[in-house]
Amino acid sequence: MVISNNHKPLLECQGLCYCYEGGLQALADVDFHATEGEFVALLASNGSGKTTLIKVLAGLLPPQSGTVLIDGLDVTKIPARQLYGRVGLLLQNPIDQLFAATVDEDVAFGPRNQDLSAETVEKRVTDALESVGGLHFRGRAIHHLSFGEQKRVALAGVLAMKPSLLLLDEVTAGLDPAGETHMMHLLNRLNRQQGITVVFATHSIDLLPLFADRIYVLERGHVLMCEPTAKVFNEPEILDRAGLRLPYISSLFHDMRRYDGFPIKGLPLTVQAARRQILALLPEKLWLGIGGKKHE
Ligand SMILES: Nc1ncnc2c1ncn2[C@@H]1O[C@H](COP(=O)(O)OP(=O)(O)OP(=O)(O)O)[C@@H](O)[C@H]1O
Ligand SMILES: [Mg+2]
Repeated sequence: MVISNNHKPLLECQGLCYCYEGGLQALADVDFHATEGEFVALLASNGSGKTTLIKVLAGLLPPQSGTVLIDGLDVTKIPARQLYGRVGLLLQNPIDQLFAATVDEDVAFGPRNQDLSAETVEKRVTDALESVGGLHFRGRAIHHLSFGEQKRVALAGVLAMKPSLLLLDEVTAGLDPAGETHMMHLLNRLNRQQGITVVFATHSIDLLPLFADRIYVLERGHVLMCEPTAKVFNEPEILDRAGLRLPYISSLFHDMRRYDGFPIKGLPLTVQAARRQILALLPEKLWLGIGGKKHE
């Protein structure tokens, strides 16, 4: 079942400012919202304020101005137990949130604190580890896991709480290509099939067009752009200003249009879209003549 986005604001804030001790202004007048069922990305170069924003949205850092509302309630006033039953936060560095000695204990910690039966906790742990492809981590010591493995276990601990909103900081960074794709498909399933709202800070430009509904581009603590994904990637100059780039497949088409006069209307953002454009441009006789075959 696909749960459609009903445009109910789940998370909203206006005029957020956050200044670290010592005076560094990490967020300046940030307006942000995510509606129920949306998949929203925060895209920005290093040091632009992604982590700070995720922590402010999760109520870990109190902003100097502006208020974060989750379902209309001030996040800093929601009791922790209630908040973290609803909001799943994944920190950029997994070791900042893994604290138990073993994988099983760590993933079980949240559900145990929700006063669930031992049987339900066990099922939550198994399901969560299975969904991150980490059932084989059971019984292992946290400090023996690799960075990518720790990241999956940290996400399993978050998912075991069955949150309706996920705030994820660089969830795919440090994962191998198969792990990255697995993770993005998992998040996509959680979002599209279970209606879980996802807010996702990332540098994974090439994967975003496949999954994100809307993207916030940040630059030095300011929101430079907040638009649907296709629109963001139609603005190469703004991305360049933010120290970002187009997806590689789009850059190829952009350069072919610019330097070779290749007749391209809209830039494709994914390999699938690029493939369709190339096939539409080439006369069928040509590619069949050079050994291509018709895809049924
Ligand atoms: N505890 C801190 N004390 C002082 N300044 C900090 C602190 N944490 C972050 N900053 C500064 O705030 C700014 C935003 O940092 P933040 O970690 O939010 O960026 P980011 O976009 O998540 O970067 P990255 O892509 O490297 O994770 C940076 O200039 C950083 O140096
Ligand atoms: Mg960060």
